[in-house]
Amino acid sequence: MDSIKEAEKKLAGRKAPEFLKNGMVVGLGSGSTVPYAIERIAELVSQGLQITMVSTSNKTSALAKKCKLEISGIDSIDRIDVTIDGADEVDPNMRGIKGGKGALLFEKIVASISDKNIWIVDSSKLVEKLGKFPLSVEVVPFGLKTVLAEFQRRGFKSEIRVREGEKYLTDSGNYIVDLHLGSIENPEELDVELNMIPGVVENGLFVGYADMVIVGRGKETEITSR
Ligand code: A5P
Repeated sequence: MDSIKEAEKKLAGRKAPEFLKNGMVVGLGSGSTVPYAIERIAELVSQGLQITMVSTSNKTSALAKKCKLEISGIDSIDRIDVTIDGADEVDPNMRGIKGGKGALLFEKIVASISDKNIWIVDSSKLVEKLGKFPLSVEVVPFGLKTVLAEFQRRGFKSEIRVREGEKYLTDSGNYIVDLHLGSIENPEELDVELNMIPGVVENGLFVGYADMVIVGRGKETEITSR
């Protein structure tokens, strides 16, 4: 099963760079599907494609560097033409949950200034309703307890993300709290509700961002566009 998933990620990842053109500013997402796109971009750049790239995580920047791709600082650009990113869940309205690998904040900033957001996913990511995948919420360390109490008050089952025995730290030095919601009735409302809680920096609901979803399914890719 896992090798099928991996093959689907690869198919979707290698398809997305076909939408890049000379002169574009390109956003590189994070996660385990994006590396397939980065590898393909590196091939295209070595064949002459000229683009400016910005990254959404230290991990993606490191991989890009390894592939001999130059990453520009986010403040050196005004807009992004195309961003290629993964997702944890995508519903039929192209709303998604992201942040499973902790990069949701930079990913949302980059998505918000991108003219076109392309998501690359294996077929297991398509869901009827969002919420089975834990929803990542980035929270500042100061006053974590008050945020957790607020989640509890609202009936959200929460869990601080831990890696190797320590609280997981994002590239911004914040914590991630995963909300186990089961299903999300109204993603638009929840997105606003969560971001209103003092201490919450951002949440992993991406509503109204994706313009195209490339799904790897078996040996094919399926493309849905807005
Ligand atoms: C990074 O924090 C995430 O938003 C990823 O984009 C998302 O989790 C998808 O990751 P995979 O491609 O590893 O499934």
